[in-house]
This record gives sequence, C-alpha cells and structure tokens, in this order.
Amino acid sequence: MSHFPLPRPARLAVLASGRGSNLAALLDAFPEGDPVGAVVLVLSDKQRAGALRRAAERGVDARFVPFPDRASFEREALALLEQAGIDLVCLAGFMKILSPEFVARYRGRLLNIHPSLLPAFRGLDAQRQAIEAGARVSGCTVHFVDDGVDTGQVVAQAQVPVLPGDDVASLAARILVEEHRVYPEAVRAVLLGRAAERGVGA
Ligand code: GRF
Repeated sequence: MSHFPLPRPARLAVLASGRGSNLAALLDAFPEGDPVGAVVLVLSDKQRAGALRRAAERGVDARFVPFPDRASFEREALALLEQAGIDLVCLAGFMKILSPEFVARYRGRLLNIHPSLLPAFRGLDAQRQAIEAGARVSGCTVHFVDDGVDTGQVVAQAQVPVLPGDDVASLAARILVEEHRVYPEAVRAVLLGRAAERGVGA
C-alpha cells in the first residue's frame, strides 16, 4: 500500500528519550489544528523523560513504552503508532536503534535529527567528535532513517562555526538553536511533498 502523498493534516508521532527540546520545537510548529500536520503522539523509552512531561503539559498523548528488549518495545510502539493512525514518525533524541523491520514499516516516513553535518561524526557524542577532530564547522542534519546509524538520505542541514575555546556544551548549545529551526522546516518540506526518500512513494 502506498502511503504517499501523506494526508493533510498528517498525524505526527515523536519518539524521544531525553529532555525533549526538539519535541517542543515540533509541537510549536505542528500544533493541533494545523492544516499541514499535528503532533498527536509522543512515545519515550524513558519514564522520566522531559519529553513526556512537555507533551503532557500541552495535552498531547504521551506514553512511556518500556524497553526490556527491542522486540517488546517495538511491538508496543508499533501498536500505538497504528492505533493513532500515524503518518510520519520523527525521532528527536531517541537513543535506541530501531530494527530493520521497524524501519521498513515506516520507510520514507521516518526522520531523525543528528547534531553533526552528516556524513561526518555519526553515532554518539557527535559534538565531542567534532571538537576532538578539530573541525572548524559543524551543525545538524535531518535525514530519513534507513537500516544504518545516521546513514539515511539527508533532507536538510544547517552549519555553525566551531569557535576557539568551544567545549562540548558550548558547541552543543550553538547547534541546538539550529536544530530547533531546521527540524520543523524539514518536516514541513516532507509533508508538503518537497522532500521524499529516493525510491519511496514515487
Ligand atoms: C539533540 O542534540 C539531537 O540532535 C540528538 O539528541 C539531542 C536531543 O535533544 N539526537 P532534545 O531531547 O531534543 O532536547
């Protein structure tokens, strides 16, 4: 079954493990009632994630999904995504790696944000990797998720300088400002059909 073009308004879910600042940016950009899309479901593998609190504060359905192992998590998460009729899934600081089966289910409808200019500095601690490599420029990337880690097709990127004297925290803060701008823009581009994964939804 083809999922494209995505319906309008599209129903968005966000998966997040942490404080949820990118989730907040997506909630601001895609509130209930937006004609293009709305964040209607937030899932977290961490019961105390700030992301769950932020979603609940705004009246968005926010669920803790335990992660005793990947198969159990994915079974429950997929059931919730399907019940909610989710069209597009956004990973926002979601710290687990999804299985190829999960990725296949949402292929071309699954996005992630990563705090580096991919393909540079994939994986954990991207800001530390940039500083340790002596990079003069870093940034963030929104990409479709494929079976690799931070390897999928790029939708949008933004650059920031790495300044002399930067530490991980100062660089991460500078990148985060751009993340909050670029992620909603990239989601909007996908929803409006201006960005699609090659070979998906054609
Ligand atoms: C962001 O830097 C994001 O790029 C990375 O994890 C961090 C999540 O931050 N994948 P937040 O939970 O959205 O505040």
